[in-house]
Amino acid sequence: MIIPGSASQSVAVALARELDEPLIPVTYDRFPDGERLVTLDSAAIESAQTDRAVVVASTVDSSAHVELLLLHDAVREAGIDHTVTVIPYLGYARQDRAFEPGEPVSARAVARAIGVETDRVLTVTPHERQVCDYFDVPTTPVAGTRRLAEALPTSLEAPIFIAPDEGARDLARTVREAYGHGSTDVFEKRRLSGTAVEIAPSERDVTDRSVVIVDDIIATGGTMSEAIAALGDRAPESITVACVHPLLVGNARTRLATAGADRIVATDTIERSVSSVSVAPLVAEALRAD
Ligand code: R5P
Repeated sequence: MIIPGSASQSVAVALARELDEPLIPVTYDRFPDGERLVTLDSAAIESAQTDRAVVVASTVDSSAHVELLLLHDAVREAGIDHTVTVIPYLGYARQDRAFEPGEPVSARAVARAIGVETDRVLTVTPHERQVCDYFDVPTTPVAGTRRLAEALPTSLEAPIFIAPDEGARDLARTVREAYGHGSTDVFEKRRLSGTAVEIAPSERDVTDRSVVIVDDIIATGGTMSEAIAALGDRAPESITVACVHPLLVGNARTRLATAGADRIVATDTIERSVSSVSVAPLVAEALRAD
């Protein structure tokens, strides 16, 4: 049976279809003070007649983290023996070490809390693969990037898949391979603050070519905007920004449009209007491989 978190209902529905497993309705409420409450449909759980629950919940914000812990506890309370947790987007993963004295390793803190009431975790394209080691239960990263190729128009002109920084090199390569043709390039990024970055481009000619800039996350849109700006007055045929996790906080969409992005493509690990491809088939494949 598939149990959706409130922020991951579409991907949960897609996964239920992929696996041909029943989808359990959940009611999401808040108490007057803002605290969360979830209620699983007991009749649906009874008629599902299975002892494995697959909880599907992206931890897009702090509230979603709490909701996931509540879902785990509700599953246990329902007497279900085995819990698998699918976290399409794992929040807090970018603070994967203490960057300054006095800071926490936030990725470790949330991983430990999540690991208490589950037997296994799958998470899609975590910011760094090593965050999986912070969970106390077996945890599998599911590579979601190749799905992005399916969201791209088939008619891209001599496409060039650009990584805005070294960390995205493999992502750009993966999308290029899945797309079937084109070349890759890597820019250099220096982070100046939480919202400001500086990007140095390569000298590769992009004139009249379809540029696809690939990253794992678009949050403020700062990285992608700077990568577009770094193209300078070279005239690409089109500019697409592609990411697995479209956080798109604040004015990210307008920032990207004014920077010159013609389109944004993304998966449904975070459910936004640009989430045109689902990671559900990849998650289903990983679950079937168990
Ligand atoms: C950072 O290392 C990540 O890979 C992304 O480049 C970053 O999270 C994007 O954030 P923003 O859109 O705020 O620049």
